[in-house]
Amino acid sequence: MNIKICGTGSALPEKVITNKDLEKMVDTEDSWIVDRTGISQRHVASDEENVASLGTLAAKRALEMSNMTIADIDMILVATCSDDDRLPNCACMIQKGLGGTTVPAFDINSACTGFLTALTITDAYFNSGMYKRILVVGTETLSRIVDYTDRGTCILFGDGAGAAVLEAVESDTRMVSSLFANGEKGDALTCTAAGKVLMDGQGVYKFATRCVPQVINDVLSKAALTTDDIDLFVLHQANKRIIDSIARTLKSDINKFPMNIANVGNMSSASIPVLLDEINRKKLIKKGDKIVLSGFGAGLTYGACIITWE
Ligand code: COA
Repeated sequence: MNIKICGTGSALPEKVITNKDLEKMVDTEDSWIVDRTGISQRHVASDEENVASLGTLAAKRALEMSNMTIADIDMILVATCSDDDRLPNCACMIQKGLGGTTVPAFDINSACTGFLTALTITDAYFNSGMYKRILVVGTETLSRIVDYTDRGTCILFGDGAGAAVLEAVESDTRMVSSLFANGEKGDALTCTAAGKVLMDGQGVYKFATRCVPQVINDVLSKAALTTDDIDLFVLHQANKRIIDSIARTLKSDINKFPMNIANVGNMSSASIPVLLDEINRKKLIKKGDKIVLSGFGAGLTYGACIITWE
């Protein structure tokens, strides 16, 4: 069974914090942030918005594009690491927001690898024959756990949600994926229940530029493909320099790496589905395209997959 992405959707809060706004909050400069990260602004949730409300909106848009309703969905998977509430889980809150269904709904927390993890879980359910249609949502309000006095982290993160309606289809190809976690290096990026994000920026940078090319080469070799066979690399949007470095290591054309980080910053598990929705709505993907998706982040976790667009 292959995964068909029937529809995508996203939701970004209206409120924006620009680099100029951050200049008034911490000792930083717009030009430094742009040079070191590629980020110019990030969206920030209002008091009325949360991971569930943003995720519900993104899910509604994905269902609409799929010409489906929630009644067509067998399961709801939500990737998030910034839910305000411990109980109920965000997936059940989104289920409530969509209404009219009692299908299983649960959360996954593998930080910025969350959407990738949800895709591999979906692949396993589809190929076990257990479910045929799964709604996957990546949603974050990182602004609630970011320390706006720490210039090393507050410049990076933003809020938003992305969703995809996935369907199992008979096909000659199947998604190929690899997921890894290195808990021993977990101290590089942490956030305690009552605290804020703490990060060893250079440590995470080195991990990403080393491990992401490795895991992408791993899935390419599993699929017996080379980078030349890949039409698009949809990577977690953590830092433009990280993506540039990965493209160089893979000796691949940077034009195959779409980016939206300048406008949205790092939205953890929402980054990949929001970017996917953006390029899908711009009709930059065509049937038969081979797309690498890759996520990396706290854990430390990382992973990649190759999907063939149905
Ligand atoms: N504005 C201005 N100066 C800043 C700054 C900011 N926002 N943040 C740090 N600096 C300063 C540092 O204090 C340091 O000054 P010093 O030399 O006087 O000590 C200098 O800039 C260099 O700091 P450094 O941490 O080496 O910068 P960097 O080039 O590594 O960039 C990050 C910092 C955070 C942008 C970069 O390490 C990064 O993006 N890492 C990956 C983080 C990430 O992607 N995390 C999420 C993964 S999912």
